[in-house]
Amino acid sequence: MKKAILISALLAAATASLAGFAAAQSTLATAPETATVNSIRGVDPETQVTVNPVYHQEEGRKNRNYRAQPPIIPHTIEKYQIDLHANECLACHDWKNAADRRAPTLSMTHYTSRDGVQTDTVAPRRWFCNQCHVPQVDAPALVDNLFKGSEE
Ligand code: HEC
Ligand code: HEC
Repeated sequence: MKKAILISALLAAATASLAGFAAAQSTLATAPETATVNSIRGVDPETQVTVNPVYHQEEGRKNRNYRAQPPIIPHTIEKYQIDLHANECLACHDWKNAADRRAPTLSMTHYTSRDGVQTDTVAPRRWFCNQCHVPQVDAPALVDNLFKGSEE
């Protein structure tokens, strides 16, 4: 008897939580029509902002804004593929090729695994270069900000 009561209590609880889940699902399903999201830019987040790709507008390398800043890229990168298997940046920047290509060699942090082990090939966590490095481009700031470099 006790067992039967326990089972029906459990069933009731399960039904209640299923009902709750269904309710949450239907809220989720209707959310996109009702939600208003305002971005910091003050416009709908879907609004496209056109930025002209003005690469090379300032030739040459630029000073970093703070010591550990990933330097910005002084050349266009459109044609250099980076995916699971290929990384065309390494054709010039890997330590084996840099002098021949007159390119700066990757620093040792790029050859250090997350466990601090030094490797001869670029560390997996540094594989996707454009996760940290961006080409220099004269683009308008999307939002006002008060950023100042550490030496300014
Ligand atoms: C064809 C050779 C070549 C390829 C490929 C190449 N680079 Fe470069 N890169 C250079 C050269 C040469 C310089 C130095 C330019 C200068 O001093 O004005 C440079 C400079 C840089 C710098 C600036 C370093 C500093 O200390 O200021 C970064 C960052 C960089 N490249 C990243 C990349 C990334 C990321 C890719 C791939 C998406 C890439 N490069 C592909 C030749 C190359
Ligand atoms: C996780 C972020 C990150 C990734 C990914 C990354 N870098 Fe860097 N890179 C940095 C930082 C930070 C610096 C400056 C400090 C340092 O050298 O560690 C730097 C420095 C450099 C420099 C200048 C080295 C020097 O001694 O002047 C070059 C060139 C460079 N990176 C190219 C690349 C290329 C090419 C890739 C892809 C194979 C890459 N980086 C991937 C963060 C990154």
